[in-house]
Amino acid sequence: MNDFHIIKGAVSEQTCKVIAKAFRITRDGVLFPHHDNKVRGDDIVENSFSWYSPISFEALADQVVKDIVEKMTGDKLYNSYSYGRSSYHGAVLPRHRDRAASDYAVSCLVDTDCTWPLYFKIDGEEVEIRQEIGDMVIYNGNIIEHWREPFEGTEQLSAFMFYVKDKMREFEGRPLQGMPYNPQWDPNTIQHTLENLRAAHGVTNP
Ligand SMILES: [Fe+2]
Repeated sequence: MNDFHIIKGAVSEQTCKVIAKAFRITRDGVLFPHHDNKVRGDDIVENSFSWYSPISFEALADQVVKDIVEKMTGDKLYNSYSYGRSSYHGAVLPRHRDRAASDYAVSCLVDTDCTWPLYFKIDGEEVEIRQEIGDMVIYNGNIIEHWREPFEGTEQLSAFMFYVKDKMREFEGRPLQGMPYNPQWDPNTIQHTLENLRAAHGVTNP
């Protein structure tokens, strides 16, 4: 059985304003030193600016959201990572599942000037969610397919927070929250690489 929960007003409007400002400070601080006015996007959404584990989202994931997700799912959880994305006019989120380090994913709408529906495929049915600022959706990120059609507004800012059930996978192997991702530390990547290596040798045991 998949977990899928919608929490209206989970994060206050005031908190959303503060973390939106913090994220935009990060964006401008990252782009300004390089005079970088190109919109480069990330691997998933082309017309966007994104940042892995922005500090304000790491703090939110740790201090407020984890308690809510643990209560809703009944599981003891560990922070995996957070992610922020400002999506611009015309941005599309293709159908995808999140990576392995996403036993539970949280998508929180932080700011927008236009409703941008989020779709999920649950038990073969397409479900459309229309979030208001501060609303959270909790779902099994690495199992449930999700996507968005082209964005018709100017800018939409989302905070994504991810949790795992296994302490060995906490922080994706990073020694501290807020640090950049490093695949050499990531227990999920290490496991995947080991499985491929053993398969190439025709063995399965460690
Ligand atoms: Fe996703």
